[in-house]
Amino acid sequence: MITRQEFARRRETLIELMAENSIAIITAAPERVRNRDVHYPYRQDSDFYYLTGFQEPESVLVLVPGRAQGQFLMFCRDRNPEREIWDGYRAGPEGACSEYGADDAFPIDDIDDILPGLLEGRDRVYYAMGKDPAFDRHLMDWVNSIRARARAGATPPGEFVDLDHLLHELRLFKSSTEQKIMRTAAEISARAHRRAMQICRPGLFEYQLQAEIEHEFAMAGSRFPAYGSIVGGGANGCILHYVENSAPLKDGDLVLIDAGCELQHYASDITRTFPVNGKFSAEQKAVYDVVLQSQLAGIEACKVGNHWNEPHQVTVDVITDGLMDLGILKGERNELIETGAYRDFYMHRAGHWLGMDVHDVGDYKVHEEWRVLEPGMVMTVEPGIYISPDNQQVDERWRGIGIRIEDDVLIKSKGASVLSKDVPKTTRDIEALMADK
Ligand code: GLY
Ligand code: MN
Ligand code: MN
Repeated sequence: MITRQEFARRRETLIELMAENSIAIITAAPERVRNRDVHYPYRQDSDFYYLTGFQEPESVLVLVPGRAQGQFLMFCRDRNPEREIWDGYRAGPEGACSEYGADDAFPIDDIDDILPGLLEGRDRVYYAMGKDPAFDRHLMDWVNSIRARARAGATPPGEFVDLDHLLHELRLFKSSTEQKIMRTAAEISARAHRRAMQICRPGLFEYQLQAEIEHEFAMAGSRFPAYGSIVGGGANGCILHYVENSAPLKDGDLVLIDAGCELQHYASDITRTFPVNGKFSAEQKAVYDVVLQSQLAGIEACKVGNHWNEPHQVTVDVITDGLMDLGILKGERNELIETGAYRDFYMHRAGHWLGMDVHDVGDYKVHEEWRVLEPGMVMTVEPGIYISPDNQQVDERWRGIGIRIEDDVLIKSKGASVLSKDVPKTTRDIEALMADK
């Protein structure tokens, strides 16, 4: 669990990076309407949560370095006994101070009266412009209200700076507590994938396998998937973000499951592809082994000192070689790599940063160069081969095969640690687990 001390350390680190006489404003995620008066399940904004641990909507965090009366200010919903009967507990400004450590807190309804005074005289405002257009407009109104009083000596801030750059660099490096949570999240997801392998049989619907996965998440203490679970049988596995999950699973097909739980606001992200009936066909196994070799080589390249693109490049090389061996790609190897011929079959990158967001924050390039991998970073390695059912260029027996294998990898000073290692991924181990019902 992230402790109050850790949330405080994060704010202190950010405050140290901020310029003198500046202010940072970070807003909570808005509630989103599903239909009429029904909302989607609320999920706090990751930046806001990272710095506060506060779960409520309609909240604003303000950091004012060097402010004598306190640097950590919060605006949030007031206590309201009547609303709380309908919607549940609210911490209120008192709770924001006593439970979350704010130095000072105010009702969100008073923000128009209070925030201009905090902005006035500050040189620089750190703010993620464009993320919440309604709040952007409020902020401009507050700045203009200060401008309107310029002749009375009020000075509006002169500079708006993107907060993301500072904050996301902090989020990129996971503390030991964050690493522990992410390892547990990956272990829960691994268990869910094993459950799916053991329960799978022809005739089950994709969404029923999804339910088995998500059941395991909840039973292990995770409230939500970190993203929409993908369960694609047969050629649906070739649709990269397939989330309909509505088709029946067929004997003789593969099923691709890309699903990961979110635990305490941290994501896991695992993909496995396995035969619906428990046995790989010769063609499925041949393509699968190419993906697996590329994934293992990609993980091998996840080490301190290598740059971000190296694992990707390795997967491209192995997949190009493998597709040539199978006769699916024809031509001269280097030319196939240079012209990107593999992209007809492998059209995404090998991975992404992983953290509070499944596609987590953090720059991939620094000064136009791929960034070097460092301890504490967490990334996925997830190559795939997708042979469209409509691809007339390849022999019919390969068509409609879609395979991805994805693991979560923590970079450590000595090599990498595969957080999601507990799900089998060789064809032999998968078949053995599926036979063991
Ligand atoms: N599940 C999204 C991804 O693998 O990137
Ligand atoms: Mn995934
Ligand atoms: Mn992923």
